[in-house]
Amino acid sequence: MAERLLLVGFGNMGRALVSGWLAHGREAGAISVVDPNPDAREAAAALDIAASAGWPASVRDRDASPEVVLLAVKPARLDDVLQDYRALGERSLFLSVAAGKTIAKIAEVLGPEAAIVRAMPNTPAAIGRGVTALCANDRVTADQRAVCAALMEAIGSVEWLDDERLMDVVTAVSGSGPAYVLLLIECLAEAARELGLDPELAERFAVGTVAGTGLYAEQSDSGAAELRQQVTSPGGTTEAALEVLMSDGQLAELMSLAVRAAAKRSGELSSE
Ligand SMILES: NC(=O)c1ccc[n+]([C@@H]2O[C@H](COP(=O)([O-])OP(=O)(O)OC[C@H]3O[C@@H](n4cnc5c(N)ncnc54)[C@H](OP(=O)(O)O)[C@@H]3O)[C@@H](O)[C@H]2O)c1
Repeated sequence: MAERLLLVGFGNMGRALVSGWLAHGREAGAISVVDPNPDAREAAAALDIAASAGWPASVRDRDASPEVVLLAVKPARLDDVLQDYRALGERSLFLSVAAGKTIAKIAEVLGPEAAIVRAMPNTPAAIGRGVTALCANDRVTADQRAVCAALMEAIGSVEWLDDERLMDVVTAVSGSGPAYVLLLIECLAEAARELGLDPELAERFAVGTVAGTGLYAEQSDSGAAELRQQVTSPGGTTEAALEVLMSDGQLAELMSLAVRAAAKRSGELSSE
């Protein structure tokens, strides 16, 4: 865990990553942060991490080049930000978490020799329970792939994709997925309130049910469909509800339409 890291952007995702790295034993002294926002730099300094407002003089020197430049700025800022790091294009590995920014777009600025990994994490990374898809170009070595996986495993689980086009699907499923699950919590709590449950109690039951069921599914050897069948007694309460949710494929159809819409939008954003 000795790679020198330059983290560009110390917002929500940058902080989740650093908190995971420190918790996994990475040394604060091996990390540098660049962020023009004074609050972000103050937050980094509080963790004993060197922070600067722009391209730090310390990494201009070839010997001090970071092994990894992790790009965690908003997608709209990435093109400008990349211009500052062109000189590192043939020296450092670039790992970008910017949604919708393809490897080809990043290589347009850094050059064809640049080793680039694109990552798509998701919001539960904030508590170390994200899922991240990774995709690399052919300049990335096996060792560099292992470094990227270790960096992203600090905020949850990691899966590699061979085909970058599938990033749009992953974005639609796990990237945007937390919002779908939050909507499910909202709907469940609202239904409970309509039937007379105290609003706060309704929220706690809804959140607890979704959180507990997610863990239950994760820790079980059975798939979700099998677990659902196991808890659905013939003629019981669960069956009565599932008949409403599943008659004529209602929820499945809606989810399919929703995920397709998100994947389509992800494709559009990637080609802008
Ligand atoms: N948050 C998530 O759950 C999540 C999930 C998947 C992917 N991502 C990706 O992660 C990236 C960051 O998202 P975020 O939610 O962490 O955004 P964020 O909270 O807005 O953080 C971005 C940080 O970068 C700073 N910044 C702006 N210009 C910069 C520059 N030239 N150099 C260095 N830093 C600069 C921003 O400062 P200012 O505030 O002053 O602009 C801010 O502190 C995005 O590309 C997003 O697509 C995030």
